Amino acid sequence: MEFSTKTSTPENTKTACIIVPVFESNKLSPSAKALNTASSNAISKIIRKGDIKGKVGQTLLLHNIPGIKAERVLLVGCGDGKDMSENDYKKACSATVKAIHSLGATQSTCFLHTLEVNKNDINWKVSQAVRIFQSSEDRRDHLKSTKDDSEKIDHKLTWATETSAENKAVKGGIDLGCALAAGMSLTKELGDLPGNICTPTYLANQAKALQKQYTKIKTSILEEKQMEQLGMGSLLSVSRGSIQPAKMITMEYKGGKRGAKPVVLVGKGLTFDSGGISLKPGQAMDEMKYDMCGAGTVFGVIKAIAELNLPINVTGVVPSSENMPDADASRPGDIVTSMAGLTIEVLNTDAEGRLILCDALTYAAKYKPEVVIDIATLTGACIIALGHHISGMLANDQDLADDLLSAGKEAGDRCWQLPMADEYQEQLKSNFADLGNIGGRGAGTITAACFLSRFTKDYTWAHLDIAGTAWNSGGADKGATGRPVPLLVQYLVDKANN
Ligand code: BES
Ligand code: MN
Ligand code: ZN
Repeated sequence: MEFSTKTSTPENTKTACIIVPVFESNKLSPSAKALNTASSNAISKIIRKGDIKGKVGQTLLLHNIPGIKAERVLLVGCGDGKDMSENDYKKACSATVKAIHSLGATQSTCFLHTLEVNKNDINWKVSQAVRIFQSSEDRRDHLKSTKDDSEKIDHKLTWATETSAENKAVKGGIDLGCALAAGMSLTKELGDLPGNICTPTYLANQAKALQKQYTKIKTSILEEKQMEQLGMGSLLSVSRGSIQPAKMITMEYKGGKRGAKPVVLVGKGLTFDSGGISLKPGQAMDEMKYDMCGAGTVFGVIKAIAELNLPINVTGVVPSSENMPDADASRPGDIVTSMAGLTIEVLNTDAEGRLILCDALTYAAKYKPEVVIDIATLTGACIIALGHHISGMLANDQDLADDLLSAGKEAGDRCWQLPMADEYQEQLKSNFADLGNIGGRGAGTITAACFLSRFTKDYTWAHLDIAGTAWNSGGADKGATGRPVPLLVQYLVDKANN
């Protein structure tokens, strides 16, 4: 889809299809009212017949309404007409784009941003809608020989405003929505790719492709040999059980001032997690192809901010490996030495994410970060704690934690802070090494973060556990979600504005 904006009133808008909200109990929104007045009540007469009840998610397409300049009218049900919730607004947007997909017209003019949605401004309403509209074109059939039938649509949508000042806000919303959709699309595509295609080498090539696409991105890759020289014994202990060579991928986005400290994003890039010798059970093991969604998020965020041309420096660091039970794989009880010098007793080879992340977090210090945020599908325990709606978040700095909480709220991609009290560190004690890689049954998400915190003492750091939010399991909507790209892009946009 393509988006634009212009000032015009509903009744005077020349368009193939005008999109206006309606409410329950035959109530009309201001834009629907304007059409109704111009058409001598044609709209309210139709509504009273009961074909649309105004419930969120309903739509009704009308033709040949007299007295107005639009060829069609698309009525969109938006609830009781009081302040709309953000979720209801998104539902109405999804219903709208569904209706647009089955429209014969290739152009429309939209008034959905005139709704009252929990005090959000036009920029927010447009960016959310544009993101939903754009994402409706995402496909999961890249590897099917016969493609699913819904094709890409060639549609131009105009946001009609009252003043030229509003146009500016709409334009900002369009840019943000499009950038988010582009970033999330990449994150989803990488997430959905199976482990036999999306290997560490494949991710490294994707990073090189981003460097080609955007002049502000510089990519570099460390091979296993260089990682060995740097002493990344923890990361390499995971990769030993796989025939796929590990990669340490860095993408530097330089949009800010020269020398300005970057935000460093570190994404877990386990392209398949079998558990290793501590093998996982077979049930739904295919979903462990999603264990690189932290990495996918880093790719998506870098792409989105490059699209936005954000004036900020951001460095993406992606440690990527496969976790397999080959003959040379780590055994439970093995002791490895991390780049930071701490020795780690590998009590469970399935707690591998923290083993690759700890070396990446030590390596990240080389970029002299302002803050470091890691993103990882780290613990099943996080799904038990928070389910699939909200990501887990832990931090060694409350200001950073607060910034992430508020960015998540603003973006509709929330996280929830868990405590990282010193008491939990006790659970990582080992009789034979500096620390063990598991912390027992209780508080699995917290002890995993505590493990990482031993490697992040020199900088401001937060950890996002996205085990529950990065993909939808089973069912018709099985697939990567593109989260938490919106949260992180919002955080970076906020940062660029301050
Ligand atoms: N990638 C998994 C975490 C995970 C599990 C994400 C299920 C999403 C769904 C991680 O590597 C893992 O296996 N963690 C273990 C840690 C345990 C051995 C301490 C877990 O959560 O069971
Ligand atoms: Mn694992
Ligand atoms: Zn894992």
